[in-house]
Amino acid sequence: MSESPGTPEPAEAPSPDVEAQAAQQVAHARRLDTDDPLAALRDRFTLDDVTYLDGNSLGALPRAVPGRIADVIAREWGELRIRSWTESGWWTAPERIGDKIAPLIGAAPGRVVVGDSTSVNVFKAVVGGIRMAGKGCTEILVDATTFPTDGYIARSAARMTGLAVRPVEPARISDEVTERTALALVNHVDYRTGALNDLPGITHALHSAGALAVWDLCHSAGALPVGLDAHHVDLAVGCTYKYLNGGPGSPAYLYIRESLQNRFESPLPGWNSHAEPFGMDPNYTPADGIVRGRVGTPDILSLLALEAALDVWEDVSIEDVRTKSLALTDFFLDCVALYAPPGRVRSVTPYDHRRRGSQVSLECSRAGGVMDGLIRRGVVGDFREPDVLRFGFTPLYTSFVDAERAARVLGEVLRELPEEQPEPAGDGG
Ligand SMILES: Cc1ncc(COP(=O)(O)O)c(C=O)c1O
Repeated sequence: MSESPGTPEPAEAPSPDVEAQAAQQVAHARRLDTDDPLAALRDRFTLDDVTYLDGNSLGALPRAVPGRIADVIAREWGELRIRSWTESGWWTAPERIGDKIAPLIGAAPGRVVVGDSTSVNVFKAVVGGIRMAGKGCTEILVDATTFPTDGYIARSAARMTGLAVRPVEPARISDEVTERTALALVNHVDYRTGALNDLPGITHALHSAGALAVWDLCHSAGALPVGLDAHHVDLAVGCTYKYLNGGPGSPAYLYIRESLQNRFESPLPGWNSHAEPFGMDPNYTPADGIVRGRVGTPDILSLLALEAALDVWEDVSIEDVRTKSLALTDFFLDCVALYAPPGRVRSVTPYDHRRRGSQVSLECSRAGGVMDGLIRRGVVGDFREPDVLRFGFTPLYTSFVDAERAARVLGEVLRELPEEQPEPAGDGG
């Protein structure tokens, strides 16, 4: 019987055995935090008592951002006004900030430009890629498990260029690519399952067939090494509001391989990408290099918030981030196995380190209600339809104590919300 509408059944007490193991896990988590070489980075962020495991959706606020934005508004805009386009470096911010992201995704300077949303950059990359592909190409391949926007944009780009779209599971792309394939658009980490796709292998197979590789790095940049230059990726896009902590709606980026830059014909050739933007020439002449990826006037406030957010990466190696990410997700999975009632959740994130991103996704009945219960108790992850709980681990600020607490609270919520019980109804009880 419900005590009141929406109030779950009383929790079934964990066994004394589990309580003893929990005490051991807490002690273990504290030791792991003490030994963690990245632990001090947490102080670079504004955090509270909430266990925040949604940095794979919206990264936490770096402490330096509010002060920087206050200065941009009061001084650069308020006092310098138009002069800031040159004197405060506003005009060149898209390339300058691209160069700050570049080392995190394995790119040399001059290969990344920041601006627009990921969706818009997918459009630029796919149409630009098709325009560089061989004449006989008739199709593009799209990751069948992609975040939906990439698929929507790719279908529109294909319609505009007269090509067909073929959805293919990432693991099948190497076998399915043919000499008629212009390019494949693939997510590096699957947003739903957290599975890491084989960027080097798929890129190599695409190149062997004469196709270009276009990668969406939204769920990998800032969480693990990407190696764009090393693996000869052609084009890549990604957002900056997840593991790069740029803030809500912060601008995305576009990577273009150096040898392709002067062949890249943008489908959105706005004046910012012109060789002489202030020449006001009615005819379009593209700029050289990565500037070609720009479109219109950059969103300066968001862009400069992102720039300040990227300062947290000073002295941080992405390899160390990866090591901690795997340790955190391993530890969380162990804790879930200990605390969750048997059979209630199933990890859809691969256990194999070579195939895991930086999130753990658990399939679970009544996942929406379970996540609500977690959030009410101060553990914030998220939920994807129909039945996936997602827990994102941001090694810059997530601790092992966070991982243990999240799993323990998950166990409590699952015991309170039995699998077969209907959603608590307003029964007036
Ligand atoms: C893999 C992936 N691609 C694209 C997007 C969409 O990005 P935007 O809203 O910046 O266009 C997201 C958003 O979460 C994403 O996860």
